[in-house]
Amino acid sequence: MIPENSQLLFSREQIELRTREIASRISADYQGRQLVIIGVLKGCFVFLADIIRNLDLDITIDFVQIASYGAGRESSGDCVVLKDLGIDIRGRDVLIVEDIVDTGETLAHLIGDLQQRSPASFRVCTLLNKQYRRRVEVTVDYIGFEVDDVFVVGYGLDFDERYRALPDIYALPPEVQA
Ligand code: IMP
Repeated sequence: MIPENSQLLFSREQIELRTREIASRISADYQGRQLVIIGVLKGCFVFLADIIRNLDLDITIDFVQIASYGAGRESSGDCVVLKDLGIDIRGRDVLIVEDIVDTGETLAHLIGDLQQRSPASFRVCTLLNKQYRRRVEVTVDYIGFEVDDVFVVGYGLDFDERYRALPDIYALPPEVQA
């Protein structure tokens, strides 16, 4: 169900087109190499499923889940790993797939953690980016869309665990975000 008074931000057609563009860039960048794709749960699962089916690469997939606690919707940088990797990434090329990078706290924590495991390389791909919200500097190599000062749901993204199954992305009205 679509949240009341929400605004359509990115349609499924726009998302599909952009996902294909990003996937072909990734395929070109990693041509002939094996790639480990790490999805950051839960929000990544729809985007990741679409990205991987458009890749022309030999890939391995795993997931991590990180809880970032703070006041309300705000990340505090106080991150707890709920699900760790099940594979060894030492010497491997790694691509992290995120749904959205907001303050950057979660991603910075994850990058710090993964760097200690000595991958050959790592890059970051996110469907959505809230650049203006950044508190921690993180390098994001592949970005689907920039998002302004709105809270978005759909296509894997939630508000209190709702709306993940919506095929399009919506901006919630400010009164719901409060
Ligand atoms: P960060 O640590 O502040 O970058 O937070 C990243 C996480 O916050 C994302 O993986 C999302 O789970 C969540 N998040 C941030 N903004 C939004 C939004 O607009 N909609 C849904 N989830 C969001």
